[in-house]
Amino acid sequence: MREDAKRRSAEREKLGVLIPGLGSVTTTLLAGVFAARKGLARPVGSLTQLGRMPGPAAGRRQSPLIKDALDLVPLDDLVFGAWDIVPDAADAAAEKAGVLRPEHIAAVREELAAIAPIPGVFDPKFVRNLEPRRIKKGRTKMDLADQVKEDIAAFRTRHHLSRLVMCWAGSTEAHRTAGRVHAGLKAFESGLKRNDPRISPSQIYAYAALDMGLPHINGSPHLTADCAALAELAAERNLPVCGKDFKTGQTLLKTALAPALRDRRLGVSGWFSMNILGNRDGEVLRDRGSLRSKEESKLGVLGSILDAEEDPGLYGGLDHQVKIHYYPPRGDDKESWDAVDFFGWMDYPMQLKINLLLRDSILAAPIMLDLILFSERAHRAGWSGSQDWLSFYFKCPMTPNGGRPENDLFAQKALLDAALLGLSKK
Ligand SMILES: NC(=O)c1ccc[n+]([C@@H]2O[C@H](COP(=O)([O-])OP(=O)(O)OC[C@H]3O[C@@H](n4cnc5c(N)ncnc54)[C@H](O)[C@@H]3O)[C@@H](O)[C@H]2O)c1
Repeated sequence: MREDAKRRSAEREKLGVLIPGLGSVTTTLLAGVFAARKGLARPVGSLTQLGRMPGPAAGRRQSPLIKDALDLVPLDDLVFGAWDIVPDAADAAAEKAGVLRPEHIAAVREELAAIAPIPGVFDPKFVRNLEPRRIKKGRTKMDLADQVKEDIAAFRTRHHLSRLVMCWAGSTEAHRTAGRVHAGLKAFESGLKRNDPRISPSQIYAYAALDMGLPHINGSPHLTADCAALAELAAERNLPVCGKDFKTGQTLLKTALAPALRDRRLGVSGWFSMNILGNRDGEVLRDRGSLRSKEESKLGVLGSILDAEEDPGLYGGLDHQVKIHYYPPRGDDKESWDAVDFFGWMDYPMQLKINLLLRDSILAAPIMLDLILFSERAHRAGWSGSQDWLSFYFKCPMTPNGGRPENDLFAQKALLDAALLGLSKK
């Protein structure tokens, strides 16, 4: 960083970003942010860094950059901290993740090495295929939540922060639906005190974050803050929350293609989606419970776009299947295939095949960055509760009052654009 930029940055208030899970996505985000600060890499894929404001001049140079129009926190002013259940600092974790080339890690090794994870809250009932090496101990789940709050307070003091955001990027937890313990804040807090088995580690972090006044983002498919108890806490503290499950590759394309077929009034009888991935996320998904969280999240997207009730003749017989396989040779380079069976004029059948060769975390990192910066901005504007304008970024968007989520990418982009214009006036 040049001297004048360093001085300006020192004078501005920083944003603390606290992340449970220092794995592939997080280390890829960190390395990219540090490299961008040094002018060594471009933040490609990030709307907050490269996007322009909607409106009459949208897409043209006259339209201001979103980051300027909304006065978003600059990359220089982010301070990161993380929890994990293995003690590797971010440089070693990035090497193990195998996403980035050695020269890209070497260029920011010092910055990465400075981020050592705090011991995490862990419960093997929620994530089975991982061997924890350093975790918190507590008599009750409330004790664990108190320890997370102490971590947040210590981080806040150490870095002189007044604003912080939490983003979950830990492993996918086993599928659970909300139970009685999630129905209200009182029930939830009493569940924490008596170790209710239905409260997951990600919910302990989320509870601690919200209680300490941090907006919360969930990058994974499991429940976390998408329940009445934590919605109540977010409302009490006037905090924005959003989730679930970063919409990166296959689902991103699915939610762009399905509206195109629907808007041309073409029928769809089948959509078969197949994935292979070999990273640790894939290994965790070998467990039936975690796999179910991911499959449900991927499966939910078509129903609201290709609506069988509204258009039974076109979508009533739609057979949507999603398969995910752990295949170690691929590492983080995921491959997916989609076989779409659709039909047109006089019911003649046709097929569409899509083969994606992706880098999972390279697609997820800019989404995580955008969500962090937009959540902080929403908080500054006084927006609270589920931020459905951020559904653009999620496979399974949270909605205010648990309403039906919008999955159509273009409708999601319209919601986002309207919110950006709204935020620019705040
Ligand atoms: N990679 C992507 O493109 C992508 C896309 C959408 C969603 N996601 C979701 O994001 C999450 C992270 O993905 P990833 O590829 O970085 O996974 P990863 O396995 O590389 O990293 C997860 C990290 O979380 C840690 N962890 C597990 N439980 C923890 C706990 N209770 N507390 C603290 N740390 C804990 C693990 O030790 C690991 O370091 C997953 O749920 C994944 O499904 C990823």
